[in-house]
Amino acid sequence: MAKVLIVYYSLYGHVHRLAKAISSGAGSVEGTQVSIKRVPETLSDDIIEKMGAKDIQQKIRRTIPEVSLDDLTNSDAIVFGTPTRFGNMCAQMKTFLDSTGGIWSRGELFGKVGSVFTSSNTQHGGQESTILTFLPYLFHQGMIIVGLPYLFKGQTIMSEITGCSPYGASCVAGENSSRSVSQNEVDGAFFQGKYVALITKNICENREQYFKTLVSLNNKKIKGG
Ligand SMILES: Cc1cc2nc3c(=O)[nH]c(=O)nc-3n(C[C@H](O)[C@H](O)[C@H](O)COP(=O)(O)O)c2cc1C
Repeated sequence: MAKVLIVYYSLYGHVHRLAKAISSGAGSVEGTQVSIKRVPETLSDDIIEKMGAKDIQQKIRRTIPEVSLDDLTNSDAIVFGTPTRFGNMCAQMKTFLDSTGGIWSRGELFGKVGSVFTSSNTQHGGQESTILTFLPYLFHQGMIIVGLPYLFKGQTIMSEITGCSPYGASCVAGENSSRSVSQNEVDGAFFQGKYVALITKNICENREQYFKTLVSLNNKKIKGG
């Protein structure tokens, strides 16, 4: 089985919705095992209530388990989802990534597939910069980066406001995050999940040889090798 892990943070539910669509896309590839996890919250319940996100947070916490470091190292692909915060990833995701230094030092994510998706309130409010500034993390971990190619036909439509770029799926959440994720955005996320799973499956079918080749680069032990 090719194991695809989706790890995200979502305050108002848009990234959560995209994560579900990515999961459906990845799960549509035979021989793929998908799991969805959320990164730990760093805001107090009081602040979350003031931000008007109490109900959706309760629902997300009830249904989506918190991610562990073992979840990362036990996967073959990791798809990260974060809302845009001032053109960058959210602090909750950054805090979680900063807890993975040990994984980095042991090279435990080398050769795994990595991919990113996001959501922002405004059309030009930083979806692309959020994904692009996330990529150095994947590079430092030695991951194989996969985006959302123009093979996805909804990438080029001009008939409606839509998220999604070659860097990854995204949605425009609208003023006060009040807009629902559109069908085209759901389709983009589904495509990204499927694309990640197909590539991962191909790697896993030749897993032994693949890791042997990676290990031979410097004779360092690599997780999976
Ligand atoms: C502190 C903060 C900073 C934000 N920065 C941006 C931004 O730079 N551009 C933008 O379009 N939206 C921005 N937003 C809106 C969020 O991106 C939006 O609420 C989020 O994408 C909704 O996703 P979610 O429903 O999964 O939480 C910001 C929101 C907060 C709370």
